[in-house]
Amino acid sequence: MSDRAAPLTPSLNDYLRSVSLREPDVLRRLRESTKNAPNVDWQIAPEHGQFIAFLIELTGARRVLEIGTFMGYSALAMALAMPQDGELITCELTRQFIPLGEPFWEEAGVQDIIDLRIAPGLQVQDQLLADNQANSFDFIFIDADKQNYPGYYERALKLARPGGLIAIDNVLWRGRLIDPNNTKSTTETIRKFNKTLHGDSRVSISMLAVDDGLTLARKR
Ligand SMILES: C[S@@+](CC[C@H](N)C(=O)[O-])C[C@H]1O[C@@H](n2cnc3c(N)ncnc32)[C@H](O)[C@@H]1O
Repeated sequence: MSDRAAPLTPSLNDYLRSVSLREPDVLRRLRESTKNAPNVDWQIAPEHGQFIAFLIELTGARRVLEIGTFMGYSALAMALAMPQDGELITCELTRQFIPLGEPFWEEAGVQDIIDLRIAPGLQVQDQLLADNQANSFDFIFIDADKQNYPGYYERALKLARPGGLIAIDNVLWRGRLIDPNNTKSTTETIRKFNKTLHGDSRVSISMLAVDDGLTLARKR
């Protein structure tokens, strides 16, 4: 078994970007114009956005759901990879951050395929289920408050079509998971969540060390 993963130092990550990043100009400008915004580290890294967009292309996703819009970087990355007649529902608890990114959605010409819902993610998912949209999503990206990950995941499993992909972000929680002294409730929630997914036979899974950890779960 190979146990020689390259340590992803900042310099190696710069190299990785220099030989692989193909960030669309409008996405780069969104990122650069928001780089001093509060909590900007909530935004996924550009190579992570490129990977999510790659998955959208790979799966031919037309119906996408995102939990956690923030300033709309990941939403734009996904929308740019979707067909013109696709639909991306993205939900966010507060409108506070939206004006920083939304103009770039318009500029990119993807505003029409993005359905932004300002409401708690669980509520949006419950409404979609009540609207008979179970088994209809090709791709679901979960990237909001960690305490609700178990709830988002269970609903995502109902909303995804068989064969649909659920991507869950921050599953390595900046390494806090392996610190036995860290018993904060968010850390414990993610620990338990990862363990549950490991044994969940309803999905095939792959946990990747992309950015802060990304689990891909494909509904069987
Ligand atoms: C990590 S950020 C999302 C980043 C975004 N996906 C990106 O890469 O550009 C998480 C977002 O989830 C939002 N959020 C927190 N609790 C939420 C909830 N209950 N329902 C919906 N969104 C929530 C936060 O306001 C925050 O903007």
